[in-house]
Amino acid sequence: MDAQPRTSYRGDPRASTEPPSAAANFRFPQGFLWGAGTSAHQVEGGNHQNDWWAWEQAGKVPERSGLACDHWSRFRSDFDLARSLGHNAHRFSLEWSRIEPEEGYWDDAALEHYRNVLIALHERHIEPVVTLFHFTLPQWMAARGGWEDPRIERYLERYVGRVLDVLGPHARWWITLNEPVVQVFKGWLLGQWPPGRVRAWPTALRVLRHMLRSHVRLYHLIHARVPGAHVSIAKHALALSPDDPSRWRDRWSVRVRGHLFNHLFLEALHTGVLRVPGLFWERLPIARTLDWIGLNYYTRDFVRNSGLGLPGLVGELASRDHRQQRGKLNDLGWEIFPEGLAQFLREYARYRVPILITENGIPTRRDDDRWMFLFMHLWQVARAIADGVDCVGYLHWSLLDNFEWADGYRGRFGLIEVDFATQERRIRPSAWRYAEVIRRNEL
Ligand code: FCB
Repeated sequence: MDAQPRTSYRGDPRASTEPPSAAANFRFPQGFLWGAGTSAHQVEGGNHQNDWWAWEQAGKVPERSGLACDHWSRFRSDFDLARSLGHNAHRFSLEWSRIEPEEGYWDDAALEHYRNVLIALHERHIEPVVTLFHFTLPQWMAARGGWEDPRIERYLERYVGRVLDVLGPHARWWITLNEPVVQVFKGWLLGQWPPGRVRAWPTALRVLRHMLRSHVRLYHLIHARVPGAHVSIAKHALALSPDDPSRWRDRWSVRVRGHLFNHLFLEALHTGVLRVPGLFWERLPIARTLDWIGLNYYTRDFVRNSGLGLPGLVGELASRDHRQQRGKLNDLGWEIFPEGLAQFLREYARYRVPILITENGIPTRRDDDRWMFLFMHLWQVARAIADGVDCVGYLHWSLLDNFEWADGYRGRFGLIEVDFATQERRIRPSAWRYAEVIRRNEL
């Protein structure tokens, strides 16, 4: 994989001191960003002013986030651990409901907290990647209609303006929205996340439009205020295969779902046109509002067509124990499908901006599986880079075991294990092996 000449073998008169395998290793580009990610509601604890907290209290999910990892008070020692693992980048999110707990009321102490978080990262030579919105809305905003209300664009703009006053000088990498399309699916079609609407297709499209327009506004705002900022979204990419490859309707559903789920949002921000083929298209205020692409990748789903209207074309998921699943399943039942990562690195290269992997990880209690997962996915990253894809970093999900939304605490995603009864941390062996990859900058 490496263009370097092979080292000759021991006993060879030209033998070098390098072990024979070293020359076959893949070297990542210089300055590659290595690290992990978290999000506020999943790790901070006590985020009682957002819509997810209310959702949990209403018993909509089996477990409540509670104190989570108490990262709110432990961020410094958690970053010490990240540093000891050689991380040079870290992704985290700001909790809007802490910064603006009531409409128009700003909690300066919360902003000061996040300023300290950024300073703590810089002190440890860790590059911050800041997410402005990671699934949770302040309850007051949710009560006004949340994402269904077009005013959210202005509310978000005002929140981010305030954030930039204090935090702007401390970060270069900014993510406006995390996984907007996932949020729309879970919140407006499947009903599993707030606001819990089911098959509300027209509303889902309206929400999507508000999300796109919000990104465009925030993109301009950040650029106006932070010289040299790199702005993007974190895009969830889901590999898709037909339930029955011999059925044209399943193959067709893979294409429709693939466009809606994996491309529509990026394409809209890139071209300035929101396009749902055969249904409608709409122009956004401006094109090219992605300086890079944040890629979140986990798994593959199988799709079965269920009709010729839009919902039917999007199809049903047929993934559980699918006969064609070639990989292992993780603890939440998702297939391990590393090839998908290289596939999306290549597909997203078409947008001609650098790609930063902003999430990739595995919920598992078997840490050997985590290392296997990490190795196999980094191998795919290496392949894509060797093919010319401009991938600038890899942020593993997650630094810590954490609150996995509707799945609660059973999915253990952490490089660092958290004992939720005592808040003790233990670095997992896979994290040390990852640290070794980082140290050598090669695989
Ligand atoms: C992504 C989310 C992240 C985490 C992982 C497992 O969809 O962005 O918060 O829950 O999945």
